[in-house]
Amino acid sequence: MKDYEHDYPDFRKTPFHEHGDEVPSNRSKNPTMYDVIEARASRRGFLVGGLAAIATGLFGAGLSSRAALAQTAATSGLLGFTPVPLSKEDTVVVPEGYKVQILAPWGTPLTGDMPAFVPGGNTGAEQGMQVGSHHDGMHYYGIDGSSTDGLLVFNHEYIEPRLLHAVKWAGQALDGDMVVFAADGSRDADEVLKEMNAHGVSVARITRGADGQWAILADPMNRRITALTEMTISGPAAGSPLLFTKFSPDGMKTRGTLNNCAYGATPWNTYMTAEENWAGYFINADAEMPREHDRYGVSNEESRYGWEKAAGGADEYIRFNAAATGASATEDYRNEPNTFGYMVEIDPFDPASVPVKRTHLGRFAHEGVVFAPAVAGKPVVCYSGDDSRFEYIYKFVSANPYDGATANGDLLDTGTLYVAKFNEDGTGEWLALAPGENGLTPENGFADLAEIIVNTRLAADQAGATKMDRPEWGTVDPNTGEVYFTLTNNNRRDMTQIDAVNPRAENNYGQIVRWRYEGADHTLAKFNWELFVIAGTPRNSLIVTGETLNDDNNTFACPDGIWCDQNSRLWIQTDMGDIGPEQEGPLEPFGMNQMLAADPKTGEIRRFLTGPWGQEITGVISTPDGTTMFVNVQHPGAHSTAEEFAAGKFGSGFPDYNNTPPRSATLVITREDGGVIGA
Ligand code: FEO
Ligand code: CA
Ligand code: CA
Repeated sequence: MKDYEHDYPDFRKTPFHEHGDEVPSNRSKNPTMYDVIEARASRRGFLVGGLAAIATGLFGAGLSSRAALAQTAATSGLLGFTPVPLSKEDTVVVPEGYKVQILAPWGTPLTGDMPAFVPGGNTGAEQGMQVGSHHDGMHYYGIDGSSTDGLLVFNHEYIEPRLLHAVKWAGQALDGDMVVFAADGSRDADEVLKEMNAHGVSVARITRGADGQWAILADPMNRRITALTEMTISGPAAGSPLLFTKFSPDGMKTRGTLNNCAYGATPWNTYMTAEENWAGYFINADAEMPREHDRYGVSNEESRYGWEKAAGGADEYIRFNAAATGASATEDYRNEPNTFGYMVEIDPFDPASVPVKRTHLGRFAHEGVVFAPAVAGKPVVCYSGDDSRFEYIYKFVSANPYDGATANGDLLDTGTLYVAKFNEDGTGEWLALAPGENGLTPENGFADLAEIIVNTRLAADQAGATKMDRPEWGTVDPNTGEVYFTLTNNNRRDMTQIDAVNPRAENNYGQIVRWRYEGADHTLAKFNWELFVIAGTPRNSLIVTGETLNDDNNTFACPDGIWCDQNSRLWIQTDMGDIGPEQEGPLEPFGMNQMLAADPKTGEIRRFLTGPWGQEITGVISTPDGTTMFVNVQHPGAHSTAEEFAAGKFGSGFPDYNNTPPRSATLVITREDGGVIGA
């Protein structure tokens, strides 16, 4: 459906732009991460152009030679599994001694009438009672701390309409994002409903039986949250005229959550789902687009799925046309986009609870949120990345202290939002995005805190933050307090300049940054940072130890999901896009998307899992005892071309391998000896 070549002349020049990723919209002059790395390396007298030189400059402080560095790469015993090789097979591979079970594929009956999954054939209403599509960030909430009985809460980032409507649309040549319009240009309303209901979040009660297998129970706590679920708005943007809508004239509520990518688990045991690439769901064809739309990449030509064209013109569908057609904001849908782009808090234990959009955590393409360990009497601190090329990393510090007994989401409504500036000398600082600070004045277009929040990206531009290579997930090592963020990739040159010899110039492979504070105090304004790993092939990668990655055990590209478990094992997941077995170009050497584990102290990295064709591995969490790990497989078969799809070739057999449309699903990983995963 979307003609990126036409809409965005730069689109095809950036070949690893994934489905739904936003078009770069940061036109400020702030320095990029690359500028900082290059400046830092050259200041130290190293030749810029060799990665080793750059990295030695970055990691060199206090380390005398490469030989000394190499000694620290010895195994510490944290990683106890035999690494798996790179894979080009349409299957899931885990280390020897491990088992995999499939749980909760898209369409699994979950609530209400528990309608059975019909491949490509369920109605919109039925989809609302089934597990959604395109699983992503996920958390396990043990009931009373149990490791065999809990709630699995997982996101549904987006959809492939051709799979949802496979029965109706069979034989038509459709790419993954394409939809089918009627002769009058409208969309079938039930198709739109089904697509909205396949988005959002699932809450599923799951238990582990005596046979060791996990199963979903029919349980009153099971829940679907979708693109239609009513939500409260809280924090500085609540009640702002920028959020007045026809649906909520006082700007205090909205409908639905979109493009839910990663997540956060709060210290008070609720779930936060992130609204990432929500802008693409809207269209605003007005000649003058407001900055609240423009800086976020709302298209003036086409929405992602054409929901605003649903036949019958129901309000909840046509609101995706954000043009100012009425006399005021409460008579049209001009402010609907301003009610998206937030972190949304959900109480998974209360199926009647109304989700809350916590606006003080900023409005952008939230990948997720990660909380620092909560300390009684101290503020709550959390971090969030804005996943678009040249966007930023943010931190929120609550005004009120954490109190274990009564702490709740209201802590997130009062405090200070900051944006990161990475200095060349390995230090960094947090710049406050608050009225009167860092140029955020009425003269510069920021009349109050609500205006700063709704325009978070512009406020960060004004403050002078560091433009990053697509910040994805973050995690905090619970034992050291060190913070990790993946920077998945970002190519600076156009496609005519790409070749396999110069992959890093356009950063096709990504890196992972980590930072720490004096005394592990996350409330501090200053921090120290280094690159933990520069991903890529053996030739152009670098680990914090000064070693490079190698083919057999640990080479990878495009880190995305990341999670540090209770024992400080750092789980790294890759998203190289819709990568299939015929992949060519710079990502060809890496096989299918995968998950690895790293030792933060030694820098050792081992490949733990490889996934099937077309998918990305995203979302990882363990039970409290560490003996069961849940990992999501998203968009299997997505590399399948329109022509292949028309011919009935779905690209991947995962998970059923019976020639029905592939489905995103959760992998349940256990050890044959019942031990801790990864140990
Ligand atoms: Fe949804 Fe940035 O990955
Ligand atoms: Ca992601
Ligand atoms: Ca990604």
